[in-house]
Amino acid sequence: MASIYAVGHFVPPNVVSNDDLSKWMDTSDEWISQRTGIRERRWIRRGNESFVGMSNAEMARSAVTQALASRDIKPGEIDAIIYATVSPDTDSPGSGVGLKELLDIDSAIPVIEVRNQCSGFMYGLLIAKALVDDGLNRRVLVVGSEIQSSGLDLLTEGRGTTVLFADGCGVVLVVPDTDAAAKVLDVSLCSDGRFADRLGVKRPGFCSEAILEPALVSGGNQEIYPHMDGRMIFHMASEKMPHAVRSILERNGYSASDLAAVIPHQANQRIIDMLGRDLGPEIKVFSNIARYGNTTAASIPIALSEAVRADYVHRGDLICLVTFGSGVSWGAALIKWGS
Ligand code: ACO
Repeated sequence: MASIYAVGHFVPPNVVSNDDLSKWMDTSDEWISQRTGIRERRWIRRGNESFVGMSNAEMARSAVTQALASRDIKPGEIDAIIYATVSPDTDSPGSGVGLKELLDIDSAIPVIEVRNQCSGFMYGLLIAKALVDDGLNRRVLVVGSEIQSSGLDLLTEGRGTTVLFADGCGVVLVVPDTDAAAKVLDVSLCSDGRFADRLGVKRPGFCSEAILEPALVSGGNQEIYPHMDGRMIFHMASEKMPHAVRSILERNGYSASDLAAVIPHQANQRIIDMLGRDLGPEIKVFSNIARYGNTTAASIPIALSEAVRADYVHRGDLICLVTFGSGVSWGAALIKWGS
């Protein structure tokens, strides 16, 4: 059975507080922390100077290096990479092949570039599980990595989404069953395209007559920045995430009382709190959103990596990962923790 054998993460050292944001736009620490739980985030971008000091794939190399070092595995032993991001270094071919080069992997291993926004890591985990369970690959890296700061609007017009999103990377290494690994018992994913227009980035896009127009680069067109129907997304996430946890438990013969902990996508502390209330006070629900904000595809693997390093999960624990994001898409994974 496919199992998570190593975890790692990297966040940029540059801390951007809510007070920093309020220097550039009309917002406040009070507004952001009360509504979202976010107090600070990590951005590659330094303030409003648009400075990008590191690529998406370079962040991933740091996270992968940490994960592989924890198990004394060399990059050359990896035989597939799955790379989830909404913020690739280049739109085509994406950042996964760049990571393979940075890791100096000589062999022509497959690299799968995944989108799926906040659910991207979970889609990658499902693919990794299928590859390993089918015996096609033995060591599969699943990466969730984002540099969103360079694509956010620092003017007040953008405050509805800019205060939420952030940069970082998390990875897991999936292998066939070993006693020391965490068994991925099940991954269950869903989507509903009827709500695709409620959260996303509209432009540039290939369905336009010209993918770039003067208004898009002069700052006059808000469509290059993330847009969101915040209230609708809030309500859908608050409903779908607990439902996804209960469904995957049920289809594997468990109930909520069997769970030791839930590691959810870090979208909003109020959504995380609602999930905790739904599942009951005895179940731990991991949160690091106060320090990192919403890192989209990187959020769950960063949280998982921090949870492992903080001794938050223990041998024999039943753990549930759960996500909700643009698409809309949602789902859960059930994991039996090893050592
Ligand atoms: N600072 C100050 N004021 C702001 C800010 C800001 N950063 N953003 C919006 N406002 C203002 C609005 O302009 C509005 O002002 P008005 O009443 O004068 O028109 C007022 O605050 C209320 O705005 P709403 O958007 O209605 O605020 P709401 O209470 O819905 O909170 C929030 C917004 C926090 C985004 C909320 O909708 C939410 O948590 N949604 C969940 C979605 C989420 O977390 N998405 C993350 C990405 S998706 C994902 O990962 C699943």
